[in-house]
Amino acid sequence: MINHRHFFNRKLHSLLGVVPIGGFLFVHLLTNYYATRGEAAFQERVGMMENLPFLIIIETLFIYLPILYHGIYGLYIAFQAKNNVTNYGYFRNIMFMLQRVTGVITLIFIAWHVWETRVQLALGSVEGGAGGLFKLMNDILSNPVMLAFYIIGLLSAVFHFANGLWSFAVSWGITVGPRAQRISTYVTMVIFVLMSAMGLMALFAFANPADVAQAMQK
Ligand code: HEM
Repeated sequence: MINHRHFFNRKLHSLLGVVPIGGFLFVHLLTNYYATRGEAAFQERVGMMENLPFLIIIETLFIYLPILYHGIYGLYIAFQAKNNVTNYGYFRNIMFMLQRVTGVITLIFIAWHVWETRVQLALGSVEGGAGGLFKLMNDILSNPVMLAFYIIGLLSAVFHFANGLWSFAVSWGITVGPRAQRISTYVTMVIFVLMSAMGLMALFAFANPADVAQAMQK
């Protein structure tokens, strides 16, 4: 009985990491990427999202609850895991350890990020609307320490997601043999590079909107 429950929890944890959390991460980075095309393009994109009906219910069901479950159960798994990179310095062993380390960094980053954006908006301490959001991100990211923190948080979340896709494919029986798993390593590395580039460009666009708009026009 306990084993059944453990198996179910692990499978649910694994599935939620890809759908909806991974899907949300991708859409979120794509929305932010519009900031590289200027404040107006970003505002238009955010406006589309804000007009979705029952937004708070959708957010709670498909974002907050899954992240809470995946994050809390993830902490439990992370601190139970036996990392043995010092004994076996193999690539996959290191990736296994990094999966747990980036999970913990991502949890700290998400908590801080949600606190200074979504919670502050809800409390009314910062101005809402797409224009307000652009200004808020500009205020936060013009501080170099915060920019560094966001870069670390972004790279952790994207690494965790891309490498998680690799282990997801193994644990759900999608990549069975060594050849399939090697190809999947390359595919997930490309996903890591593309999503990181998209996220980093957005961070720099929020931090220095004028410079980025000029560079994109060249
Ligand atoms: C942006 C947010 C996150 C995304 C997109 C995400 C995505 C994923 C994915 C796709 C997997 C692979 C599932 C599998 O191995 O079958 C995974 C695994 C894992 N996640 Fe997350 N995750 C996120 C946040 C977190 C947080 C905050 C923690 C908390 C520490 C965490 C801890 C873990 C752990 C420990 C595993 C490994 C599970 C295992 O090996 O069985 N994740 N995650």
